[in-house]
Amino acid sequence: MKVSIIGGGGRVGSCAAFALECAGLSSELQIIDANAEAAEGEALDLLHGSSAFAGQRIYTGCYKRAANSDIFVITAGLRRKPDESRLDLIGRNVALFRQILGSIREGGFKSDAIVLVVSNPVDILTYIASQEIGLPASQVMGLGTMLDTSRFRSLIAKELKVPSTQVNATILGEHGDSMFPVWSSASINGLPIKKELSPMVQSRIFERTKTSGAEVIKRKGGAGYAVGATIAQVIRAITLDTREILPVSSVQNGAYGLRDVAISVPTIVGRSGIVKHVEFELSPKESLALSNSAAELKKTIAKCSR
Ligand SMILES: NC(=O)c1ccc[n+]([C@@H]2O[C@H](COP(=O)([O-])OP(=O)(O)OC[C@H]3O[C@@H](n4cnc5c(N)ncnc54)[C@H](O)[C@@H]3O)[C@@H](O)[C@H]2O)c1
Repeated sequence: MKVSIIGGGGRVGSCAAFALECAGLSSELQIIDANAEAAEGEALDLLHGSSAFAGQRIYTGCYKRAANSDIFVITAGLRRKPDESRLDLIGRNVALFRQILGSIREGGFKSDAIVLVVSNPVDILTYIASQEIGLPASQVMGLGTMLDTSRFRSLIAKELKVPSTQVNATILGEHGDSMFPVWSSASINGLPIKKELSPMVQSRIFERTKTSGAEVIKRKGGAGYAVGATIAQVIRAITLDTREILPVSSVQNGAYGLRDVAISVPTIVGRSGIVKHVEFELSPKESLALSNSAAELKKTIAKCSR
């Protein structure tokens, strides 16, 4: 299994590469980055550690060399300039992303390749990739609310003093301001959480989840380890064909009445990519939050369409 990481010279891409190396999930890793020196440096550093894990082949190279990848992970992105609006940044990132899609197409790809989009705005870029890359929509997914869900679980675990691996609780919707928590089905190993946490504590935990990204950026410049870990979680589902249910983002084809938007809903992920969207029951408040989130994303998609 070969994974190519475009943007792998940066923080998120290199953390994802390290998580994949530690987990021994791929035999080959290719690091691509506009900053060739950074790509070389990361590939070399990773390669120096591979004998401790699975002896992976790790190298840099061009898009042509990446054509035999089973999975393309796109983490390349631009950071906001001082005084730049969110929409202007979106415009610059969309232009850069379209260049990258063009380079992947030119270099070539296997007909069963999977594209995993991580760069922000992740739902918008997942929609664009799905429309423009030339693969079936089921082979294109975004990281969506995977990181938000992982943050949410860690905060619930801390509050209830249980291991985070036993927390089953999910964030759905946009990876952004309109994301929402699914408290109605949240559990600790099957035991309902809702009654254990007062509405005030629930709202404190969700607020902290939502502002975690900004908190990490303020303290250390940007998220790395946690996002790398959740990227590895998605790649494990693909490589091992686990068919687990993950809140990845993908273009919707009818679940919860949603169409023509990439957004996170419970999704079965396996070797073929998006196996199925699963329509679990949501409370009326959660259903409304999902349709509001989709409406917000559709507005931005309309602004980015050519
Ligand atoms: N989806 C999520 O949950 C999530 C979480 C954290 C960060 N992100 C996003 O991931 C992206 C990367 O964040 P980061 O902290 O790693 O930034 P970073 O600046 O550390 O890394 C970005 C890398 O992209 C490279 N790059 C820029 N243009 C390129 C191009 N045309 N081709 C190839 N490489 C190119 C840069 O050289 C750099 O190495 C951002 O868009 C960020 O918002 C997403």
